This record gives sequence, C-alpha cells and structure tokens, in this order.
Amino acid sequence: MKREIVKTSDGSTTIYLPELEENYHSKHGAIQEAKHVFIKNGFAENKAPTISILEIGFGTGLNAFITFLEAKKTNQKVNYSGIEAYPVPFDEIAQMNYVIELQAAAFETEFKKMHDCEWNINVKISDDFCLTKRKQFFSEIDDVEQFDLIYFDAFGYRVQPDLWSTEIFEKMYNSLKPGGKLVTYAARGVVKRSMIEVGFTVEKLAGPPGKREMFRATKAAI
Ligand SMILES: C[S@@+](CC[C@H](N)C(=O)[O-])C[C@H]1O[C@@H](n2cnc3c(N)ncnc32)[C@H](O)[C@@H]1O
Repeated sequence: MKREIVKTSDGSTTIYLPELEENYHSKHGAIQEAKHVFIKNGFAENKAPTISILEIGFGTGLNAFITFLEAKKTNQKVNYSGIEAYPVPFDEIAQMNYVIELQAAAFETEFKKMHDCEWNINVKISDDFCLTKRKQFFSEIDDVEQFDLIYFDAFGYRVQPDLWSTEIFEKMYNSLKPGGKLVTYAARGVVKRSMIEVGFTVEKLAGPPGKREMFRATKAAI
C-alpha cells in the first residue's frame, strides 16, 4: 500500500495512506491531537506514582514519546505497552519531526531507543519509563486487569469498523483494572453503543482542534 509522509496543520508530520484516504493522526495537528486526547483527557487525569498504559496502535510512537515527556514533568513512572501488527519502517520514522516539534532534542536518544528496541520484550527506555512493543493483532489481546489507561488509537471507523466492535471493546474492558479508563479521538454513536454494551460508562468530551467531540470510557471501580 502506498504511503506518504505529510505535514499536519500544527507543523507535525504524519503518514497518509492514499488508498484508504486515512492519516495516522489528525490532519488538524498530530501533536495537538495527541496532547489533547491522550495526555490532557487521559494521562493527566491519573496522578498515581506508577501508571500502566496500553496503546492500541503504536504506529510512529508519537503518543509513547509525548507520554514519556509528560511523565518526566510529573515525576511518574510509566509501564507502556504498545500494540502494533504492522511496524512503521525505520526510514519513515526518521522522517517524523516529533523531536524537533516537541523541542525535545535532549531526549532524542530515548525516541530512537523506542524505535530501535526489540519487539515483545520489556525495555527500559529510562529509569522511569519501560516500554513493551507487542507485535500482534488487536484481536489477539487477552490481558486481564493489567492497565490503568488505554490509548485507543486505531484507524477510524470508516476504514476499519471491525476494530470498533464489541469484541474489541470487551478485550479493552477486560484488560483494564477496575476504575481504569480508555480515551479515544472517536465520537460516533455506534462506537459509544459498543462501549456501553461491554460495561463502560462513556463521557463525551470536547475534541481536539478540528474535531467537536471525543470519548472517555471508564470501567466500574469495585
Ligand atoms: C491511527 S494509527 C496509530 C497511530 C499511533 N498511535 C501513532 O502515534 O503514530 C493505527 C495503527 O494501527 C495499526 N493496525 C491496524 N490494524 C491493526 C490490527 N488489526 N492489529 C494491530 N495493529 C493494527 C496500524 O498499522 C497503525 O499503526
């Protein structure tokens, strides 16, 4: 499938798949979207000293890197698991401008390590950030009560509706600890209904630039 590296409205890069007419991130701003959806409405809501995060769609590693930078500011420890069936090739990662756009030159080594490290093993990126990149399909996830937070960042419903089904959200629900939360850029009624069907309580929040709304789903605390 043809792939193009393009710039989004905030100057940060993303990958565009012309055949699907789909981007890896919002065309209105990849970094802005990641900060709003996953950090402001997800990570920043959890003040625990150690947080376990599951990412659905590791892709370019943007969400992982921004989380790493945020955790440095808040002095939190992060155990991060990123699921990805189709790893982004190194030459494309090299064209992503996240280190520059995030003014994070001091952490370029850590960004590189996130991509160079082996798949399917737990790697210490820094003293406070451990990463496991899991090369698997979302349908193969079978974790039970492992995570505090899920970044649900699959391609959109228009392109991959099967990834927004009750089967997948049931896996997400099971993998969260009681009281755990899932955040996603999506805000379709059909997605909300699937989330509610498997037991989540769903909030509609203001979306990132260019998108009116987004969802945050919570698993009941015991
Ligand atoms: C929207 S992109 C993720 C963007 C990513 N979070 C980032 O910051 O770059 C969706 C990702 O899901 C991956 N993907 C698509 N279908 C999948 C599946 N069935 N199982 C696992 N990964 C899949 C794609 O390869 C792509 O990297």
